[in-house]
Parts: sequence; structure tokens; C-alpha cells
Amino acid sequence: VESLGSTAQLRERIRHWRERGERIALVPTMGNLHAGHLKLVRHGCAIADRVVVSLFVNPMQFGPDEDFATYPRTLAADTAALMEVDADLLFVPDAREIRADDLEKTTRVEVPGLSTILCGAFRPVFFTGVATVVTRLFNMVQPDIAIFGEKDYQQLVLIRRMVDELCFPVTVEAVATVREADGLALSSRNQYLNATQRATAPRLYRILRGVRARVAAGARDYPGLEAGAMAELAAAGFRPDYVSIRRADDLAEPAPQDRRLRLLAAAWLGTARLIDNVGISIS
Ligand code: PAF
Repeated sequence: VESLGSTAQLRERIRHWRERGERIALVPTMGNLHAGHLKLVRHGCAIADRVVVSLFVNPMQFGPDEDFATYPRTLAADTAALMEVDADLLFVPDAREIRADDLEKTTRVEVPGLSTILCGAFRPVFFTGVATVVTRLFNMVQPDIAIFGEKDYQQLVLIRRMVDELCFPVTVEAVATVREADGLALSSRNQYLNATQRATAPRLYRILRGVRARVAAGARDYPGLEAGAMAELAAAGFRPDYVSIRRADDLAEPAPQDRRLRLLAAAWLGTARLIDNVGISIS
């Protein structure tokens, strides 16, 4: 796969594709690619003529006490992994090319409401950092389609709203979470888990499925179900940040008549902050 760091070169390449009428998909990543990312790329290959994968560990979405310095950077392995799928271009801009590392000092994109709830309540700069860098990537690549994983469900909802409200001519595509055989959602941060924590980690998904089963069986005391799941997580050895049942489309608190819900959770195991979510449809 060809790798480019300059936006000018990237645009030149894309201009040729566009002249031929080809549709372009962008898969934005922070690298350390795993099977979840590769599924996004394969989806891009299936629905577009060209797939650009961007790789940028975005300093703007890490808080001062978070893992920016230690976030796994594995460019050689990522390039090799992209050989296995049919990506056309790997775009690896540096911080100068993206022209931002300090969220306080740059033009930034805020998505009010969505950026301060759930994960945003615990990671205050995260979603503004994501919205800002994704805006830049959209303007640099100008894709027809952008592909995001459902693993980061709040990010997906926020990007959809940003695209809608800022009138980006981009179609956002979502791809289902890829899991290990024991149910743990794939994440670059899983490598922070030691053996004992790794054995505990799949409990998060199991606990979420338990809540989903109770709702499917008729339970409607959402705050009670959330509190019960928090207690189960704590008993299993997690330090949960939140467990929350929300409306699937906009992550608002569900009203009794809402039928499409999403159950989202974040919980720490040692130094790894795990997130996961499942859909709940009430028939
Ligand atoms: O999901 C991610 O990996 C990042 O948040 C993204 C979308 C690449 C923005 O930096």
C-alpha cells in the first residue's frame, strides 16, 4: 500500500481518481491496526472504488493524564496489515501537516451536548479533539464516504451529527464491533491488560448482554438496571465509569415509548479503560 504524509500529494492522487469518477472512502484511524480496523477497510473496499486509511495519533483527543505518550505506534506492522486488505493509500500526516496539537489554541469543532455526556463527562477534551481532527481529515481527503466502528458508538453518533450540522458532503457508514472469541471487543488498549485482567475483561460484554436480556424480558427500570450492572462490574474487579441506557439515535435519555436503545459502558481494569456497547430493540 502506498504511504503519503503530505496533503498536497494526497490531493493530487485523489484528483486522478475523481477524474475517473471513482468514489472514495476514508477510514480514519490512530494506527495499531487490528481486525476491527481491517473490517472497516474491507467494508470500504466493498462500497467504494478507492479506500484511504488515515493514521494519526491525535494529541488533541488525549487529556493531560492520558496515554498519548504510550499509545502503541506500530507503523511497520500497520503497513503490512494493510497489504492483506485492498486499501489504496495510507495517509500518515504529522502534527504539522494537521496543524494542531493544542486544542486550546486552534480552530476547533464542538458538538454541544454529545461531547459532554457519557465518555465526555470523564474525558473532557476527547470529543472536541475527535470532531476537530475528523473535520480536518474530511477537508484534507474530501471522501464521499467515511467509515467508523460501532465500538466507539458515542463517537459515531457525534460524527453523524457533526456531518449533518456542518453539511459535510460525506456519507457516514458504521461497521459492527469485532470481538475476540470470548466476547471482548477488539481495542488497541487491550494490550494494557495483564493476564488476570485479560481473563476478567470479557465480563464487561457479558454483563451488558445480561442487561439487554432483562430489557428484552420486559424490565423497564433503566436506572435500576444501570446501577445493578455497575455493581456487577465492581464485583468482577472493574472500576466502572458509567453504564447507561440511551436512545440509539441521539444518546438522549430514553422516553418510555423509545424502542431503539443503546446500552453503553466504560470501565477501568488497571490502566486500561475499556468501552463497549450493545443495541437493544424493544418490539
Ligand atoms: O476512533 C479513532 O481511532 C479516533 O478517534 C479517530 C476517529 C481516528 C480520530 O482521531
